[in-house]
Amino acid sequence: MNARLLIAIISIVALVSLGAKALQETLTEEEFDATMKEVGLTLGDTEGHIGARYWPETEEDGRRLQSMFQQVEAFWKAREVEEAAAIAADAVAAARAITAAAGENNHDGAQSAFGDLRGTCATCHRSYREQTDEGYRIKPRE
Ligand code: HEC
Repeated sequence: MNARLLIAIISIVALVSLGAKALQETLTEEEFDATMKEVGLTLGDTEGHIGARYWPETEEDGRRLQSMFQQVEAFWKAREVEEAAAIAADAVAAARAITAAAGENNHDGAQSAFGDLRGTCATCHRSYREQTDEGYRIKPRE
């Protein structure tokens, strides 16, 4: 392996771990709400992109969803709500599977991963989201 390549690899690894650090900053409740709105919009884009077989766009959607759900997972972990964190981890895995299937131009795989991802929304909302007159909020703990 030549030295320049090695240096490039080391720099990439360093950058990626810096990025991971930034993600560890836990979301505030306000940021959580904004993230959910963004998740909702991105999910709509993803469905359209899979339907149209726009694979590079679908790969990017999957990456964005993965990163948002990693933050959602960290949010619940910080509150020690392990069950919600586990649902978010399933969402991370499903988002990653969308990106992987899109990378292989695999329509059935992308649709099945999309179905898995959508399943996590309802599972979490049923237990941890509450509707109020002003919109949705995190369900207060008993
Ligand atoms: C691990 C838990 C969890 C998962 C998984 C999850 N959500 Fe949420 N979501 C919440 C909670 C809690 C709220 C209410 C808090 C809020 O809106 O601030 C919420 C609120 C929302 C809202 C309402 C935002 C608003 O105030 O208008 C949307 C839209 C939304 N989620 C979309 C999604 C979609 C789409 C998915 C799946 C791809 C998803 N969520 C997966 C927990 C989750």
